[in-house]
Amino acid sequence: MKKINYGIDAPQVIRNLLIIGFIALVFSFFPPDLSPPVSAFIRYTFLMPGLSLIAAGGLMYGYARWGKSKHRDRLLNLYAWKGNEKVLDVGTGLGLLMIGVAKRLTTGTCYGIDIFNAYDLSDNAIEQTKINAELENVLQKVHILNENILKTSFEDNSFDVVVSNLCLHNIYDSTGRAQACREIVRILKMNGTVILSDFKNMDEYQTTFEQLGMNVRKAGTYFLTTFPPLTVIIATKQ
Ligand SMILES: C[S@@+](CC[C@H](N)C(=O)[O-])C[C@H]1O[C@@H](n2cnc3c(N)ncnc32)[C@H](O)[C@@H]1O
Repeated sequence: MKKINYGIDAPQVIRNLLIIGFIALVFSFFPPDLSPPVSAFIRYTFLMPGLSLIAAGGLMYGYARWGKSKHRDRLLNLYAWKGNEKVLDVGTGLGLLMIGVAKRLTTGTCYGIDIFNAYDLSDNAIEQTKINAELENVLQKVHILNENILKTSFEDNSFDVVVSNLCLHNIYDSTGRAQACREIVRILKMNGTVILSDFKNMDEYQTTFEQLGMNVRKAGTYFLTTFPPLTVIIATKQ
């Protein structure tokens, strides 16, 4: 049966945090039978790291399971939609932002591009993204493409709005991330808007956009409802 599935972000990272945290707690509660001071040292040394790792894994899972729709809505509420925009979601994955955008469009279209890396998102596959769009009744308003943001097939000045959540940090070198920002600016129309959300490298994106002549402002960092805490920047092409 077809079912909506927006996936769990970085599932292997969550698994590793929980496993290592659990092992640390086992050491803390059942320290090796050594001299009492050494056992006490092991007990206290492993306690806080164990609890922290399990908490981090749990919070990441919580965001992926229950927090991301709320974050998506908050992000999309930062823009005054007319309904006729041509929009791109960079690293759409299972279509979270792309589908949210499509629901706000009337005559407009939303493209979602991704390389569908399963390490970054569980069940990450173009077929499931299409199923999600179909079940959310927006299939006719979206185009889902297997493309890398480092070099896309889009013409210069194609999009009114580019949105992206938790994608660019997956490009591991800063040269690549700067290239991704350049590509976003290239395919964005004059006066177009970028809404970018991620948990690290935000100053780097801001600097690159500013060097490319964009007007950039920070919308905020959301500590209570996202984990790792996500920061959002809004950039306008001038
Ligand atoms: C953590 S997931 C987030 C998915 C979606 N934006 C969301 O918020 O649910 C990151 C996504 O970025 C994609 N991605 C990573 N590097 C990419 C690249 N160079 N170009 C396009 N997509 C990329 C991954 O395949 C993955 O689907």
